[in-house]
Amino acid sequence: MSSTGDAAARSSTPGAARRSLTGVKPTGEPHLGNLVGAIEPAIAMTGEYESLYFIADYHALTTARVPEQLAHWTRSVAATWLAAGLDPQRTVFYRQSDVPQTFELTWILSCLTGKGLMNRAHAYKAARDANLAAGEDADAGINMGTYNYPILMAVDILIMEAHVVPVGRDQLQHVEIAADIAGSFNHLYGSHGYRFPIPEAVIPPETTGHTLPGLDGRKMSKSYDNYIPLFLSAPKLRKLVRRIPTDSTPVEDPKDPDSSAVFQILAQFAPADQVADTRARLEAGGVGWGELKNQLADVLEERLGPMRERYEALMEPGSELDEALARGGDVARERAQRVLTSVRSAIGIDR
Ligand code: ADP
Ligand code: TRP
Repeated sequence: MSSTGDAAARSSTPGAARRSLTGVKPTGEPHLGNLVGAIEPAIAMTGEYESLYFIADYHALTTARVPEQLAHWTRSVAATWLAAGLDPQRTVFYRQSDVPQTFELTWILSCLTGKGLMNRAHAYKAARDANLAAGEDADAGINMGTYNYPILMAVDILIMEAHVVPVGRDQLQHVEIAADIAGSFNHLYGSHGYRFPIPEAVIPPETTGHTLPGLDGRKMSKSYDNYIPLFLSAPKLRKLVRRIPTDSTPVEDPKDPDSSAVFQILAQFAPADQVADTRARLEAGGVGWGELKNQLADVLEERLGPMRERYEALMEPGSELDEALARGGDVARERAQRVLTSVRSAIGIDR
């Protein structure tokens, strides 16, 4: 057993540190919005909690159908988190698919979960409503993975005995479902030797200004195809920034920084004094959009350049990425097995 494994085992004793867990679905290219809205805030919680981070590759399978792509995004998302500063020595960092205990607990908790609760889950309900609106059969094209998604997510959380779950607002209902399922289990079996901690979502406040606009001014998102990927080459990054649409206000005229996506993105990444100076110069007039875009490209390159280098090294076959995930998988499996053994005994399977 590794020393990290011993540390993890100790931490689930009464009075030990509270645990934070977050999962990321490997479904696409990580972008600047993910970095400031999800990756960096979650990494910042390391230290405050005992932190677990995992790649939810089996959640991605509800939609992923191209094996090479699933394999690529799984590695790529993991490499992104490490390149962004996640320290696998101070956290438990693993792939969901490396913890097969998850699937045994999924069955057990499925048997305690009302079908009605799944009928009300947002993602399934939205897919069903869209089918009905299109005059199709309500369940057309919906697979059981999508239907059971919230139970698998509850298991991710409960099998690691997480107390807090940092997620975007869209995932709040899923964490509430996990708390519901934990409550059902505790109610039935709590007096038989095992209770799950009741997990709580931690949502970044809307007011922190962490919603980054995309190239068209709407929220940066893969769904709007308006995003800046984290690991474009330096020339491609500059080209993309130069393509951000701007109005035709002449160089010498005053400009409103708050209605400019270029400035908003700059404001997230540049040092505070540079942001204040640029704001003042835009408001006074005399700064053109071209100059502002060059400034943004410089700032992004300075920030992303070193991260890109590290990312590329981690993406090489046989890099330390694989070793980090293997080590994290050992720790996660050991923890999951301990929980599963207690659960099996509590429900009357192994007595
Ligand atoms: P997308 O909208 O591109 O599909 P996801 O839904 O996969 O992004 O988001 C993953 C995480 O990144 C979520 O926690 C989400 O809150 C965060 N995130 C995504 N886009 C932004 C953004 N533009 N600004 C801030 N955070 C974002
Ligand atoms: N469903 C989450 C998403 O789409 C990913 C996820 C899977 C997750 N399991 C989790 C997040 C457990 C937090 C905790 O973003």
